[in-house]
Amino acid sequence: MTQLAGVSTPEVLTEARRRRTFAVISHPDAGKSTLTEALLLHARAITTAGATHGKAGRRGTVSDWMAMEQARGISVTSAAIQFEYRDAVINLVDTPGHADFSEDTFRVLSAVDAAVMLVDASKGLEVQTMKLFAVCKQRGLPVITVINKWDRPGAEALDLMDEIRERTGLLPTPLTWPVGVAGDFRGVIDRSSNEFIRFHRTAGGAKTAEPERLSVAVAAAEEGAAWVTATEESELLAEESQDHDEARFLANETTPVLFAAAVLNFGVQHILDTLVDFAPAAEAREDASGGHRPVDSAFSGFVFKVQSGMNASHRDHVAFVRVCSGQFRRGMIVTHAASGRPFATKYAQHLFGREREVADEAWPGDIVGLVNASALRVGDSIFELEPVEYPPLPMFAPEHFRVVRSADSSKHKQFRRGIDQLDHEGVIQVLRSELRGDQAPVLGAVGPMQFEVVEERMTHDFGAAIRTEALPYQLARRTDRASAEILGHDRQVEVLMRSDGTLLALFSTPWRLRNTVRDHPELMLEDLATGS
Ligand code: G4P
Repeated sequence: MTQLAGVSTPEVLTEARRRRTFAVISHPDAGKSTLTEALLLHARAITTAGATHGKAGRRGTVSDWMAMEQARGISVTSAAIQFEYRDAVINLVDTPGHADFSEDTFRVLSAVDAAVMLVDASKGLEVQTMKLFAVCKQRGLPVITVINKWDRPGAEALDLMDEIRERTGLLPTPLTWPVGVAGDFRGVIDRSSNEFIRFHRTAGGAKTAEPERLSVAVAAAEEGAAWVTATEESELLAEESQDHDEARFLANETTPVLFAAAVLNFGVQHILDTLVDFAPAAEAREDASGGHRPVDSAFSGFVFKVQSGMNASHRDHVAFVRVCSGQFRRGMIVTHAASGRPFATKYAQHLFGREREVADEAWPGDIVGLVNASALRVGDSIFELEPVEYPPLPMFAPEHFRVVRSADSSKHKQFRRGIDQLDHEGVIQVLRSELRGDQAPVLGAVGPMQFEVVEERMTHDFGAAIRTEALPYQLARRTDRASAEILGHDRQVEVLMRSDGTLLALFSTPWRLRNTVRDHPELMLEDLATGS
């Protein structure tokens, strides 16, 4: 790729190398909010954890972090928190707490370079954990696994490792190994140095406790049988080649494992160190044509999230961009790849307006919020000088379907505008057919709470109250025109077109789908579950 004078500087490479951009993902209740606060606490971004922790009013569309920002005055956008740790710049990208918004989470996973998977020790791998592991694997995203709540009784560490290995296909390579059983947690062995990191309870987990590191001799003398068992198990892991291997981790074949009790701040610093030492920095990103855009080429990025109404006093529309290459400078003019139109970024400042360090620039790996960027849709690419388009973001198979109509027929214009806007933002999938017409499209959701968001947004943001009616479908499969024609004769099946042009065939039950496949093996009916 040609380098254009004045665009690429050696600084870009240095800054990109310092970046660690990741998301914490988990099944709800595994401790994601608790860990997020603990991570910030350890990064010295805040001084006391716990003050705003709680689930009251948690909605998923509105980030919990907004409350944290107000209460703490720390650097938070609703999409990402940035802080420095050691010599790295860490971008922790928010994911919604509720499983109904998992499609948002899946999109966030395309904007990060690594994931921290939180597993509740006593529950093991739960439904959402498995889905998220599958998405990371599909996207080739390296995963660091954190076994949380190790202060509670119930789990066997070796059993958990077996479960991860068998069910995710990733080989767990523990970086630490617990001493003492869950519930009588003494601490962990740091398997790289064999030191013992002793677990100390702090009052309510409210302060950072410096981990106490003890030598093997001291640990053996003081912990007795628990230490012997732990070292034997750790040796067993080494015999099974379950030691960290950087290349295999980056290739998504292994997952380093840490044991933690986020609520007590135990193991949290080790997570940050692991990110800095092992997680990938911002690197050349694959574009839609299969090439790679080097981080030190001209500025480029893509929108992974669009959010409206973040500022209650005026209805704004923020497009969150992951910077992929070059330097972002506030005020720069970029090109919107989808339309070829220039796009001014002068309003990037508003997002960070309340923040004390105004984000005048950003580097590969960083997240930038562009305010009033209504032309930008989820998945859109923007660039300076050298054109690039990044691959479209994954869309997932909807499992809930409702017909939507305007409650007031005189508000048809507002209705249409609102539905289109929510479609652009990726709030819901909008499916249409000639038969149903434009006044009654079908909404497809991965989780039913998405419909509530649509209802609320349509009424309050667009002044177009809606009526919805559930449709008896549960499954969607991708199909093509020829198959759609044949399926059109089956009154139990409906074919609709999603706004990205994909034809979806909707089925009421798995049984119905099986019968159709059996009777018409020639039809194209592809699984959408892993996103496309
Ligand atoms: P989420 O965002 O993943 O949904 O989980 P969240 O952090 O809200 O944590 C879920 C519950 O698990 C919380 O308890 C939290 O205190 C608890 N928890 C988190 N980490 C640990 C841990 O390491 N050990 C133990 N024992 N508990 C942990 P809650 O009762 O639901 O809420 P709260 O009253 O504590 O706020």
